[in-house]
Amino acid sequence: MSGATGAAPSDNPQDGERGELSIPSRRPRRLRTTPAMRNFTAETDLNPRSFVLPMFVADGIAEPKPISSLPGVVQHTTDSLLRAVEEALAAGVGSIDLFGVPQEQTKDALGSAGIDPHGVLNRALADVRQRFGDDIVLMADTCLDEFTDHGHCGVLGQDRYGNQIVDNDATLTQYADMAVAQARAGAHVVSPSGMMDGQVRVIREALDAAGYADVSIMAYSAKYASAFYGPFREAVGSSLVGDRKTYQQDPRNRRESLLETELDVAEGADFVMVKPAMPYLDVLREVAAASPVPVAAYQVSGEYAMISAAAANGWIDGDAAILESLTSIRRAGADIVLTYWATHAAKLLRQGR
Ligand code: PBG
Repeated sequence: MSGATGAAPSDNPQDGERGELSIPSRRPRRLRTTPAMRNFTAETDLNPRSFVLPMFVADGIAEPKPISSLPGVVQHTTDSLLRAVEEALAAGVGSIDLFGVPQEQTKDALGSAGIDPHGVLNRALADVRQRFGDDIVLMADTCLDEFTDHGHCGVLGQDRYGNQIVDNDATLTQYADMAVAQARAGAHVVSPSGMMDGQVRVIREALDAAGYADVSIMAYSAKYASAFYGPFREAVGSSLVGDRKTYQQDPRNRRESLLETELDVAEGADFVMVKPAMPYLDVLREVAAASPVPVAAYQVSGEYAMISAAAANGWIDGDAAILESLTSIRRAGADIVLTYWATHAAKLLRQGR
């Protein structure tokens, strides 16, 4: 290619020379000329059928309760939950993922209310499945953190020096029981998000043994110990003091995401996930390249809060930023995107945005 000064004239006859300047013959802008041309040549599509809407259902509230750090997201009552699922379904959203917010006094060290068939999450799963059947893919969060009085994703124990730890193997039996309870309540998909080693294997074995071979597992495979979960902790009324750095991944690392994914696939994961999404698009790209199963990415609460706050200040165009962020996650390789904007984005797409 000749330089802008024309110092090195091209011998390509298509590189027309006008005066001193060499005019480019390769013009990428040709594919950007009209909306129709841009649509025609776009590589990445957003389709609501591959969106998952995470939803919170709370025990003991009479009205839906706003979550201040997630404007537009609420803790649902059973009634408002069913209405919101209806709305998501009508907008074309493919799946919903339910998180339970139990009453404080039902929390205990083992997270028993998460396994109890009468616990808030299992009741809500049953209600949604009864109402919507197989019309929408019903997913359950399979983790103890909402249900433990200490807020950790697993049960606590001691290491051999007497230090308190989250006991991996003691947690696995709880996860197995929780997954079976969720399957029994009507979940099509269980989604272990606690980052315990071996969680996918024990859940698969437990589901199969209980007669739920048809229930699939979305594994939170590459889940980082992230500051971007902040608003979620408010959303579920988390009791956590401290952090999850002994079980969730270190943000400085990339390789272990590939190992985690490989292990989860070997253990029987039907889907794998990267979480958070936007700060980890490089990880998502690599996991997507390596995974033989569909890859999901979770646009987490902090990502939602940042865009919402900037938009509320008039600093960015919120809807454009929402669609751009979701597109970037898809472009990086996600087949499926979990986003609190699932219904909203589905409606925007329907309007031709
Ligand atoms: C834990 C869980 C978390 C999120 C989903 N599942 C929080 C955590 O790991 O501390 C975060 C989701 C979000 O921030 O939107 N079971």
